Amino acid sequence: MLIKVPKASDCHESDVTPESIYLSRRNVLSVAVTGLAVSGLPRWAAADDVARYADVEPGKAPVWFSEKLSSVKWGAVVVKDEAITPFKDATHYNNFYEFGTDKGDPAANAGTLKTEPWSVVVDGEVGKPGRYALEDFMKPYQLEERIYRLRCVEAWSMVIPWIGFPLSALLKEVEPTSKARFIRFETLQDPKSMPGQRSGFALIDWPYIEGLRLDEAMSPLAILAVGMYGRVLPNQNGAPLRLVVPWKYGFKSIKSIVRISLVGEQPKTTWQSIAADEYGFYANVNPTVDHPRWTQARERRLPSGLFKPNVRDTQLFNGYSEEVASLYTGLDLRKNY
Ligand code: MTE
Repeated sequence: MLIKVPKASDCHESDVTPESIYLSRRNVLSVAVTGLAVSGLPRWAAADDVARYADVEPGKAPVWFSEKLSSVKWGAVVVKDEAITPFKDATHYNNFYEFGTDKGDPAANAGTLKTEPWSVVVDGEVGKPGRYALEDFMKPYQLEERIYRLRCVEAWSMVIPWIGFPLSALLKEVEPTSKARFIRFETLQDPKSMPGQRSGFALIDWPYIEGLRLDEAMSPLAILAVGMYGRVLPNQNGAPLRLVVPWKYGFKSIKSIVRISLVGEQPKTTWQSIAADEYGFYANVNPTVDHPRWTQARERRLPSGLFKPNVRDTQLFNGYSEEVASLYTGLDLRKNY
C-alpha cells in the first residue's frame, strides 16, 4: 500500500468535494427533500421510504435485502457538513486484493463473485455456534443507515452511507463465553472466482483475516454492512457482508465475510503478517503516528484530482474520539499503532 501524498499546500480553497449526491423519495416529497439536501446532509426517516442517491446504479438484491429495505432507519448516524462521496468514486476506487491490486481492478473483476447462496460460520468461544445461510443470519437485525468517514491507511478518504447493523447485536445473539477476548473475521477463499488468489505474485497468505478486541467490537460504531447508497453492497465493496469500523484505517474493514470466530488470543491479521512495522493490529486513525513511508497528518478526500487535490487534515480516531477514545485509556498509541 504505497501511494504519493500531495502536500496540503497544493490544496486550493476552491477545491471542495461536489455535493453531487442527494436524496429523493419514492413519494410526493421528492422535490422538497431534494431541495433540502443540496444545502447539507439531510436527516430523513419515514417507514415506507427508501433512500435514493442520485448517481446510483441499482443492484440486483436478494429477497431478504429488499424486504428489510422498507424498514431501514435512514440517517441513523450522519456526518455533518461533509459531502457524501459520489457513488462512482466509492465503487471504482477500491482495495480488494482478491480481485487485483489496482484501484480499478475490483470494479472490473468482482462480477465473478457469487454472493447467493452465501453462508456465514460463527464459531469458537460462543454459546451458539453454527453455519447460517445469510438470509437466516440476517433475520434478527433491523438495518440502519450509517454515514461514516472511511480513511484508508494510504491517506485517501471518503464519506460513505452504509446500510448495516451493530456488531454488538450479533455478539448478543451468539453469546460469547467468558474465554472470548477477541473477534476474528475471515474473507471467502475461492481462487476460481477471485483472480487475486490465483496470482503467483500475491503477497497475501489467503484468506484475508482481520480482528478486533471484544470491547472494540462492542462499540456502537462498529457495524456489519450489507448495503450502501440505499442499495445492496456492490461486489467490489465487499458483498454480501463486510465489517465497517470507521475510527480505524480501512484495512480493518474486512470484506465478503464467511467466518466470524470468538477467540481467546489476538488473531494474526493479514496486513500485520505482511509488514508488522507498517500495519499494526489496532490501526486506529492517528495523524500523529506516521506510516514509516508517508505522513498520516493529512488525507486526500475523494474525488481529488492530481492538479487540484482535495486535501484535509486527518483527525484522531477519524473524528470519532468522543465515541471511542475511552477504549484506549492507558494504551500507548505510538507503540500500539
Ligand atoms: N477486505 C478484503 N477481503 N480484501 C482487501 O483487500 N482491503 C481493505 C478493506 N477490506 C481489503 C478488505 C482496505 S486496504 C480498504 S482501504 C478497504 O477495504 C476499502 O474498502 P472500499 O473498497 O469499499 O472503499
